[in-house]
Amino acid sequence: MSKAWWKSSVIYQIYPRSFADSNGDGIGDLNGITEHLDYIKELGVDVIWLSPIYQSPNDDNGYDISDYQAIMKEFGTMEDFDRMLSEMHKRGLKLVMDLVVNHSSDEHRWFMESRKSKDNPYRDYYIWKDPKDGKEPNNWGSCFSGSAWEFDPETEMYYLHLFSKKQPDLNWENETVRKEVFDMMTWWCEKGVDGFRMDVISMISKDQAYLDGVAHDGLYGDPSPYVCNGPRVHEFLQEMNQKVLSKYDLITVGEAAGVTIDEAKKYANLDGRELNMVFQFEHMGTVQGEYGKWTTERVQMPKLRAVMNKWQNELEGVAWNSLYWDNHDQPRAVSRFGNDGPMYREVSAKMIATCLHMMKGTPYIYQGEEIGMTNAYFKSIDDYQDIEVLNAYKELVQGGFMEEEDFLDCLKAVSRDNARTPMQWDDSENAGFTTGTPWLKVNENYHMINAKAALADKNSVFYYYQKLIQLRKSYDVIIDGVFVGLLEDNDDIYAYERRLGDQRLLVACNFTGNEVPCDLFQGVSGEELISNYKCHKDGVLKPYEARVVLL
Ligand code: GLC
Ligand code: CA
Repeated sequence: MSKAWWKSSVIYQIYPRSFADSNGDGIGDLNGITEHLDYIKELGVDVIWLSPIYQSPNDDNGYDISDYQAIMKEFGTMEDFDRMLSEMHKRGLKLVMDLVVNHSSDEHRWFMESRKSKDNPYRDYYIWKDPKDGKEPNNWGSCFSGSAWEFDPETEMYYLHLFSKKQPDLNWENETVRKEVFDMMTWWCEKGVDGFRMDVISMISKDQAYLDGVAHDGLYGDPSPYVCNGPRVHEFLQEMNQKVLSKYDLITVGEAAGVTIDEAKKYANLDGRELNMVFQFEHMGTVQGEYGKWTTERVQMPKLRAVMNKWQNELEGVAWNSLYWDNHDQPRAVSRFGNDGPMYREVSAKMIATCLHMMKGTPYIYQGEEIGMTNAYFKSIDDYQDIEVLNAYKELVQGGFMEEEDFLDCLKAVSRDNARTPMQWDDSENAGFTTGTPWLKVNENYHMINAKAALADKNSVFYYYQKLIQLRKSYDVIIDGVFVGLLEDNDDIYAYERRLGDQRLLVACNFTGNEVPCDLFQGVSGEELISNYKCHKDGVLKPYEARVVLL
């Protein structure tokens, strides 16, 4: 196996809570995953990334960890884990663990010690500050609404939590913290895991001045300039690389909120000093509302293309891209970038998949994306479980900034719970996810959209993804070819070439529900590698048509 196996891999992300429940408690679990490994293998991916499965009080569904070396009770036991890992390896599937070390849970032993007294040996594991004029040390807001500081009466100081108050930030300035993290990573590597997806890793180094952020409308200040890609982040990651990563043959991807091209060139440099790749967010944020992500506005393809092409062009030869439309923090890809109505759901799901999977980088598929699962369209705030939603509801709706109805419309478009509804396995009750009561409502469309139906239909989105993955394994141009954007002024068509030696791969995708003129394929001869239509029409692309031709 070549050293850079992660360049030719395709990764499948599982959100364990919503994947498959093996014991009827309504919560997905490790045995549920093990039972479905053949399904994942059939898709053809090489690597599985699991959202966190560690011991956690689940304030943020496992992204708040109280023991990094134990399995969440609801998900199973360490024996279940070992069996799952060995079943994955038997099938040639690798396992990527989610590494959540910007913060821990407030129920982690370290934090319970830390908050006890100012001279506790664990005090400096977290970020404690004195009140300023009787209030928070600065105006930073948390990513989940409200202040990023929580007052702790025990020692009358504030601790920093960039996410919920049950997710105190670890103090990476403290060498002992870094050693604890590196030792814990080594422990998992020795167990045989194959890599890490590093949660908000771009936020581990804070600017030590703790200056106020820019505030908006009487809301809290934005900490990002002081916490994203902070002063020592590359130093910390290089240390992690030297002490842990370089000792194993791993795949590493950093979730890098606020990352710029220049920063990404450091994080994901091909020299291998830090990580293999990062998740950038620019293409997820091409539309923003008055209060951040809460908007119903549709993504405009030309804007999206400009961002994606920039990342393709600028990282060429220097760093490596990750490719994704979807994950557990985003709405469903087909609802957001395609068309999830009955007429075009499948064809547009295939189109957006084509657009992404023919690019340069390592593609990620989020559970259910491969069958074209759609947004949940919940009608009431009571249907939502996500702490981000519930906190924002309090702040924005109850705080009088937004009307309830408008906020609910935003949730239908962008809430994270859209991606977290249970995996739709078949058309039996609860979509075959559980025999109990699912922790989050199943999407009502499961009778039509489910894995069983997809596997029975040769033309399904599932088999289309399978073919895209096979193509990546068969044509080096898809892995190594240089990206060249085409038709960059076109409002409807996203087109590009990949070039390797004398090979040229031509890719064109119609992002609209209309037939649009396209002469890219006029007079060219080559082999069509994949398309979501059987017949083409001269000089046009049909609604949501995608074509890939090797010239
Ligand atoms: C990352 C995770 C998200 C989580 C947050 C805090 O963005 O993907 O799900 O809420 O970090 O850990
Ligand atoms: Ca269960």
